[in-house]
Amino acid sequence: MFVDQLEQIDRILTLPQVVAQINELVESRTASASDLHRVIKTDPALSAKILRLVNSAYYGLPGRVGSLEKAVILLGVTAVRNLAIAAGVEQLFRQLRLTGPISGRDLWVHSLAVATASRELAQRAGMAHLEEVFMAGIIHDMGLLAAAQAVPQDFSQVVMVCVGSKQSWKAAETEILGVEHGVAGARLADRWHFPSYLVEMITSHHTWNDLPDASDLAGVIYIADTIAGGLGDGFTLTSQSQVIEPPMLERLGVTEQDVADVWQSLPSYIEELSGHLSV
Ligand SMILES: [Fe+2]
Ligand SMILES: [Fe+2]
Repeated sequence: MFVDQLEQIDRILTLPQVVAQINELVESRTASASDLHRVIKTDPALSAKILRLVNSAYYGLPGRVGSLEKAVILLGVTAVRNLAIAAGVEQLFRQLRLTGPISGRDLWVHSLAVATASRELAQRAGMAHLEEVFMAGIIHDMGLLAAAQAVPQDFSQVVMVCVGSKQSWKAAETEILGVEHGVAGARLADRWHFPSYLVEMITSHHTWNDLPDASDLAGVIYIADTIAGGLGDGFTLTSQSQVIEPPMLERLGVTEQDVADVWQSLPSYIEELSGHLSV
């Protein structure tokens, strides 16, 4: 059972070396843009991604940024760390080989949709650090990734049980895998030395509403997950039984109109971003 592998979960999935180094640098709080530049330039794919992103319409900078060093200075240390984690997790999703109706791409599209929707919601809720919210969306389901990698046949069985039925994902995964993906993902995030607020968000992203102390970040991810689940593209099984209720929106300081706006704009945002994070 997957639950029996939790103790060694960081052997199931390995964070790319360059991402681990960037994470360590940022955690040390002494990292400068040139330190980061030195590490990032050893990974040409990540370097190219950063350059593409900083030159995208999303950042709206006048003129072209041609050097990686300048791109790092313009984006800032935190945004670059987030981008590196997103790129590293994306790579893990893309390497995932799954049989059955769900692919690694479906999980990646879902993560991107949740990232995009959560950033838009967080902005409407007046939350700070929107790039961190985006990254939280990218990694929120990495417990699913770990399960799919460790026990692909059991994972497919959970999928088969839930496709076309009213069976909740939580019940199926608890029975077949022995653990919820939030708990597994949090264990992995902890082992990878992610900040504690991200570990908490991963643990409670489906149970936020039952937990008075859960963070607004977990709440925003819950709402974004539910919106993304209604998109019909990507992986939607974990949120098919989730609902958005007025008290939840009040708790986060967003309105039903905000949710409707995010829902409507989501497909075009994903299209814009997918070119930069290569779906
Ligand atoms: Fe989830
Ligand atoms: Fe999700």
